[in-house]
Amino acid sequence: MIIQNPDYVDIVSNLILASKYLVIFTGAGISTESGLSDFRGKNGVWTRRDKGLPPARSKHFDEVQPNEGHNFMVQLQEMGLLKFLISQNVDNLHLKSGIQPERIAELHGNYTIMKCVECDTRYSRKEIGWERENHGRGFRMESPQDNQPFCPECHGRIINSVVNFNDPMPSKEMELARDHSMKCDLMIVIGSSLVVTPAANFPKIAKGKGAKLIIINIDSTPLDNLADIKLDVKAGDFLSNVLKRIKNIKEIEPI
Ligand code: APR
Repeated sequence: MIIQNPDYVDIVSNLILASKYLVIFTGAGISTESGLSDFRGKNGVWTRRDKGLPPARSKHFDEVQPNEGHNFMVQLQEMGLLKFLISQNVDNLHLKSGIQPERIAELHGNYTIMKCVECDTRYSRKEIGWERENHGRGFRMESPQDNQPFCPECHGRIINSVVNFNDPMPSKEMELARDHSMKCDLMIVIGSSLVVTPAANFPKIAKGKGAKLIIINIDSTPLDNLADIKLDVKAGDFLSNVLKRIKNIKEIEPI
C-alpha cells in the first residue's frame, strides 16, 4: 500500500485550479485499474515477454470499462479545467468515459476506429462495414485483402487506425498534441513510462515552453528529474482524492 502524502493531494489540486491551460498526457498505466495490462510495468506485456513469460491474463478492450482515473479527466473537462488530452492508448476508454472527441489526440490510434490511408477520413467499423472475421485486423503493415471495404469518400485503402511500431505517426494528432503542449502552463503525465518517442517528447516540449510538469507513475521514468512533482502512486486512488479536494475547494469558493 503506497502511503499517500495528503499534502500532494492539496498541492496538485491547487496547481490544477490555478492553471490557465491544463493538458493531460496518458499511457497504458491509466487503464491497468480497468483490468488491462500495461507494457513495461512490473507485469507488463513487454516485461513478461522479455522474461520469457506468457502474457498475463488481461481482459479484452471490449470487456473493460473506464475507471476513476478516466472519470477524473471527464470531470475536469466538465468543470472547464481540462483543455486537452494527449493519449498513447488505443483502448478507447477515454472516449468511452465521455471525453469529447475534439478534446483528445490518440497518438497511437484507437482500436475501434478505421481510417483511409489516402484522405485520412475516420470511420467506425460499423460505418464502413468492417468485420474482423471476414476482413482481418486491417493493420497498415498487413497486405490488403480484395474483400476489404474501401473509402466511400475517395476509394482509398481502409486500415485500422492503430499505429504499430514502424508505422508513420498520424499527422493530425501529432499537430494537435504539439500545439496544445506548446500552449499549456501545466502538463500532468499519468501512467506512462515515457520511453516511446515521438509521444514522450510532448511533456519535454511543454516543460521547455515553461509549463509545470507533474508525473504520476508507479515506476520511474526518464523525465522524473525534469518534473516539478513526481508521484509514485496508483493513479486511480490519488486522482479520485484530488477530484474530491477540487470539488471541496470550488464549493467554498466565493461566488
Ligand atoms: N497508477 C500509476 N502508474 C501505473 C499504474 C497505475 N495504476 N499502472 C501502471 N502504471 C505505470 C507503470 O509503472 C508504467 O511505468 O504506467 C506505466 C506504463 O508504461 P508502459 O507500459 O510503457 O505504457 P506506455 O507508456 O503507454 O507505452 C507507450 O509503448 O508499446 C508501446 O504503443 C505502445 O502506446 C504504447 C507505448
